[in-house]
Amino acid sequence: MGTAAHPAIELAGIEKWYGTRDAPVHALAATDLGVAEGEFLVLLGPSGCGKTTILRMIGGLIEPTGGNLLVEGRPLWRDGARESAALSDLGMVFQDANLFPWLTIEQNVALPLELKGVAKAERLARARELAALVGIQGFERRWPRELSGGMRQRAAIARALSYDPRILLMDEPFGALDAMTREAMNLELQRIWLETQKTVVLVTHSIAEAVFLADRIVLLSPRPGRIDTVLTVDFPRPRAPLLQSTPEFQAIVRNLRVRLAEIS
Ligand SMILES: Nc1ncnc2c1ncn2[C@@H]1O[C@H](COP(=O)(O)OP(=O)(O)O)[C@@H](O)[C@H]1O
Ligand SMILES: [Mg+2]
Repeated sequence: MGTAAHPAIELAGIEKWYGTRDAPVHALAATDLGVAEGEFLVLLGPSGCGKTTILRMIGGLIEPTGGNLLVEGRPLWRDGARESAALSDLGMVFQDANLFPWLTIEQNVALPLELKGVAKAERLARARELAALVGIQGFERRWPRELSGGMRQRAAIARALSYDPRILLMDEPFGALDAMTREAMNLELQRIWLETQKTVVLVTHSIAEAVFLADRIVLLSPRPGRIDTVLTVDFPRPRAPLLQSTPEFQAIVRNLRVRLAEIS
């Protein structure tokens, strides 16, 4: 973890109500949470507990109803408007890769740079570098439909990293993948995180995935969402798949499973 004076992300009394045609929905009760520079934080909880809501607020996609949200020490919102400087610190990955089917893999990866006005040669060089980082080198000129689900998610991670944001936000990025691909992707994500030293906030409802990846797990309870438990996971890195068969790992998983059952 870095020595920055401020956390990478700071939620102070962040709350969310959604307006609906019926009664407003209280999705998240006032929540305080800091994410340290370089930390791998996992948001875990049952469906509907507000994980996506928190992530989308951090990503600047929806505005909090109350509280203060700082990214790299700067407010993300000011008078109902997003601060674009804070936004450039954030890259996002969703459950579906959302690649444009009419663009090649390298064009997809380079698209955020194109939108920022980076020259073609430079952005394609960067796309190739990122393809190697995420393990899809050789597939740069392919179409998204020619890649497997896991490889498309790798491309989505490369795209999110294209303008070198300090923070990577991931909402169930491997939720649509089969179990074996998912495990391979967890290993790859750990490697990418160790290489790039980004701050990561990852949402999952898989307990094992959370324990395998996280420096710290934030367990959320529903209706309205609130922080139930914060758990530090201090297995050394890099973590190997066999860690998951150890009694220490399984004990943490079991405790979390019991707590999840109690709060769901
Ligand atoms: N746009 C919306 N309008 C109304 N209610 C919403 C909206 N988005 C989410 N919710 C509600 O807010 C709560 C939290 O949702 P969400 O953050 O998606 O949970 P999670 O990602 O943990 O499954 C749920 O009760 C959900 O139904
Ligand atoms: Mg969600």
